[in-house]
Amino acid sequence: MTVRCCSPVFFFTTFFILTFCNCSRLCVLDSAFVSCRNPSFSPLITSKKGNKPLPVETTFKIPAPVPKWPQGNGFASGAIDLGELKVSRITTFNKVWTAREGGPNNLGATFYEPISIPEGFSVLGYYSQPNNQALYGWVMVAKDVRNDQFRQALALPTDYTLVWSSDSQKIKQDGIGYIWLPVPSNGYKAVGHVVTNSSEKPSLDKIRCVRSDLTVDIETDNWIWGPKSRFNVYSSRPVVRGIQASSVATGTFVAKKDGDAPSLSCLKNMKNDLSSMPNLDQIQALFKAYSPVVYFHPKEEYFPSSVSWFFQNGGLLYTKGQESKPVEIEPTGSNLPQNGSDDGAYWLDLPTDKTASEKVKKGDLADAGVYLHVKPALGGTFTDIAVWIFYPFNGAARAKIEFVTVSLGRIGEHVGDWEHVTLRISNFDGELKSVYFSQHNKGSWVSVSNLEFEKDNKPVVYASLHGHAAYPQAGLVVQGTASIGIRNDTSRGNVVMDTGSRYLVVGAEYLGASKIVEPPWLNYARKWGPKITYNINDELSRVKKLLPGMLKTKFDGVIKSLPPEVLGEQGPTGPKWKDNWSGDERV
Ligand SMILES: *[C@@H]1O[C@H](CO)[C@@H](O)[C@H](O)[C@H]1NC(C)=O
Ligand SMILES: *[C@@H]1O[C@H](CO)[C@@H](O)[C@H](O)[C@H]1NC(C)=O
Ligand SMILES: *[C@@H]1O[C@H](CO)[C@@H](O)[C@H](O)[C@H]1NC(C)=O
Ligand SMILES: *[C@@H]1O[C@H](CO)[C@@H](O)[C@H](O)[C@H]1NC(C)=O
Repeated sequence: MTVRCCSPVFFFTTFFILTFCNCSRLCVLDSAFVSCRNPSFSPLITSKKGNKPLPVETTFKIPAPVPKWPQGNGFASGAIDLGELKVSRITTFNKVWTAREGGPNNLGATFYEPISIPEGFSVLGYYSQPNNQALYGWVMVAKDVRNDQFRQALALPTDYTLVWSSDSQKIKQDGIGYIWLPVPSNGYKAVGHVVTNSSEKPSLDKIRCVRSDLTVDIETDNWIWGPKSRFNVYSSRPVVRGIQASSVATGTFVAKKDGDAPSLSCLKNMKNDLSSMPNLDQIQALFKAYSPVVYFHPKEEYFPSSVSWFFQNGGLLYTKGQESKPVEIEPTGSNLPQNGSDDGAYWLDLPTDKTASEKVKKGDLADAGVYLHVKPALGGTFTDIAVWIFYPFNGAARAKIEFVTVSLGRIGEHVGDWEHVTLRISNFDGELKSVYFSQHNKGSWVSVSNLEFEKDNKPVVYASLHGHAAYPQAGLVVQGTASIGIRNDTSRGNVVMDTGSRYLVVGAEYLGASKIVEPPWLNYARKWGPKITYNINDELSRVKKLLPGMLKTKFDGVIKSLPPEVLGEQGPTGPKWKDNWSGDERV
């Protein structure tokens, strides 16, 4: 039997029903099937006597070695110049303290001291992560490159304050943990915590604080840990993010009492010349290594196509006020109105001929490719590659009602569906760190340590049936209650798209205007489909007729709780006209 869900190869079996993989998932094996669940959804935990082996005790490694990248500029050179500070990244840690309960899955969290610091660099903060995942983290260390005696970029703290200790806490733990906040001297800020396993204050040279003008504000990101009191530990991220933002995340955690603002800051790229970003050759090499593999549902009817295929096979441009005179669209979209705003003055639609229209709705996978937007993230310390997929048609939403699946008729259907996933790559070494999965109007970042991979380091993406939302795992997501709601089915069908085999870079502003030719359709700012007018209540009552009385009421309740975009879909705007083009992804 093969363990499909855990393409990373190192795994071991404990007894006979559980296989624990280094991809930090739990796989349930029986003779008929293998399924894999993200630990956060799984109540299954290995049951050995005494201390259980925690997922965090395994270190995650991306399946294949990271390739040697083509030469050029500062990309993947191990260090990044932020102006006054040069930063490098540490992934080697010494465990300081482990809590064995609290946090995600109630499995606790572990706190680490970064070690093997390169000559001349200083620690800015310690690392922490939940125990329900394989160990996979990094923190930044920094070096003052100017070393101006009167204006040092880094300074020792003057003291520490104890933020929290597990001393009096009745929790399962290895030793006792103390979390300290460095007290910066005037004009400096703390960017990370120190953690110890003894009550003595850490020595002052454990860490450095950073001059205030080289820092920016952070906010909490993911929950790492919390005992059952009003104290919690989170990963952090800069408040201001996106293409233009110079804020640099340091990889450290923040510990705080509920209601308090985070007491730490993060760094700022003062230079921001983006010299650590990949050049065109390096972009090609990166996409060759990490191009996502998209699996479609076995029942999928509406596949992607290239934009030109949609235009050449009968896609039409409509103008408001001249609805009876739609025009054909040139293959590159050169006769589409450019720029402007999403004002409803124009829209696209399927061919008027029924046969042609049915054909276009199905897309053409053989000809389909993806469109890449390459952009700096977190002050140029990461590269985001947004991978845009165009589907001529988004099929009807489907509902799960107890054991029955019903199509919601026209609800959810729309012409012109733009979906994306985004690869976040470290500019220190070109390693893929996380992938953003867009699910309609929001989405989520998933660490590579929780992804499935294929063909070495290509992340697997599951496109949901009809709606084409992107998910990291196959299965069913129901929006609503467990028994009634809108279905998002993903499954590993035979139809698959390696996005690396056909792609076009349509945006990479940092390379300069001359490097990338924007196709004219990219600057079409209006909707890619018409506003569909139907009576939602009519559609729903048609569905309700099929249901027994008790379910009718339940069904009504669930439908009423759904966000409006599920119910009254209209064709979306193109990639450039969503604010994710220049902003950070929406979570
Ligand atoms: C206590 O912390 C130190 C690092 O500061 C570490 O080397 C040591 O192993 C820790 N002790 C335990 C019991 O984890
Ligand atoms: C639309 O905007 C893009 C960049 O924002 C610009 O390059 C292009 O020339 C504009 N097109 C027209 C027709 O104004
Ligand atoms: C992208 O931005 C648009 C415009 O703000 C928003 O409506 C949409 O939800 C965003 N999508 C994602 C996946 O973040
Ligand atoms: C499920 O699908 C609907 C309609 O396709 C969508 O609006 C919704 O966001 C999806 N739910 C999740 C949790 O992805």
